[in-house]
Amino acid sequence: MQYRNFGRTGWPVSEIGYGMWGMAGWSGSDDDQSLRSLQMAVDLGCNFFDTAWAYGNGHSEQLLGRLVKANPDKRLYTASKVPPRNRQWPSQRTFTLDDCFPPDHVREYVTRSLANTGLECIDVMQLHTWEDTWLQDDRWIEELIEQKNQGRIRAIGISVNRWEPWNGVEAVRSGLVDCVQVIYNVFDQNPQDLLFPACREHNVGIIARVPFDEGTLTGNLTLDSTWPEDDWRNSYFVEENLKSSVARAEGLRPLVPAGSTMAAMALRFILSEPAVSTIIPGMRKARHVESNMATSDAGPLNPSLLQSLQAHRWDRTPTCWSQ
Ligand SMILES: NC(=O)c1ccc[n+]([C@@H]2O[C@H](COP(=O)([O-])OP(=O)(O)OC[C@H]3O[C@@H](n4cnc5c(N)ncnc54)[C@H](OP(=O)(O)O)[C@@H]3O)[C@@H](O)[C@H]2O)c1
Repeated sequence: MQYRNFGRTGWPVSEIGYGMWGMAGWSGSDDDQSLRSLQMAVDLGCNFFDTAWAYGNGHSEQLLGRLVKANPDKRLYTASKVPPRNRQWPSQRTFTLDDCFPPDHVREYVTRSLANTGLECIDVMQLHTWEDTWLQDDRWIEELIEQKNQGRIRAIGISVNRWEPWNGVEAVRSGLVDCVQVIYNVFDQNPQDLLFPACREHNVGIIARVPFDEGTLTGNLTLDSTWPEDDWRNSYFVEENLKSSVARAEGLRPLVPAGSTMAAMALRFILSEPAVSTIIPGMRKARHVESNMATSDAGPLNPSLLQSLQAHRWDRTPTCWSQ
């Protein structure tokens, strides 16, 4: 495993981190399997774990707390998120700071995350939705700085809405946030336009999320893919999205290097961007952990493949189903 600097914090974070939504929010999760997979990741050098109160109403945070306690000799970096008070993902231009992150709500959910993990301090606390217009009201940052001063969190982050990387650029430029979490993958290359340059300039850590486009970039989706009734992916991979996603994944298949997989190519595409600090694939199965962790040592893609993949950029805008 290779490590990169997490922006101005200076923390050496593993290039491949761990996304913990699936193990508490998606159908088919099993705690024993999840804990085994998490431990395997630690054993393979992973030290960055992304969770949120919203992932199973604290359940994913509890799993993270158990992992940290089981590894007292390892420095594991913990990242969680305060849910918006109105529980609306993504946020919309009309939502105010009071709708989503009033200071008492931020304080309450830092307290809840600490209780769920059983930790005295969480390394990164992110706001789970974001609007750059909230910069006009200092109360969110004053509260988070107060949480920092009290030693309850170490770094402040925002998680920008799906397909809106532009809606976080001003937050980065403001110098107020230590890190930003954004969707960045073979399709969603648009953070390179404005967000990444701003992060470079202000030494802000970048957490690249949804590296497989929720599954498309594993190459395993087909037009017949279905999920159990209670699985959120039914509402994301609606017919319109499933059709175009499968077609675009098929377009990538000829580019997968011999002996590799589309999933490995997808992660190595992201590793090829030096501005990214850590990538957080969601994974519950041990075999996924093993293969994903191995991509760090395989390293960035060669320049000609990278160039070919750049042509597969897919600019999307939020829709009624995109969440
Ligand atoms: N608003 C936000 O802040 C926000 C929103 C979405 C996600 N996130 C964060 O980003 C993380 C990653 O996103 P995600 O989990 O939604 O989606 P993702 O990482 O794009 O895809 C996860 C899916 O890929 C599968 N997978 C993983 N490795 C694989 C491999 N090598 N081969 C084949 N399949 C593989 C997983 O299967 P198994 O699980 O069955 O192993 C899971 O079904 C989340 O867990 C969460 O921490 C944050």
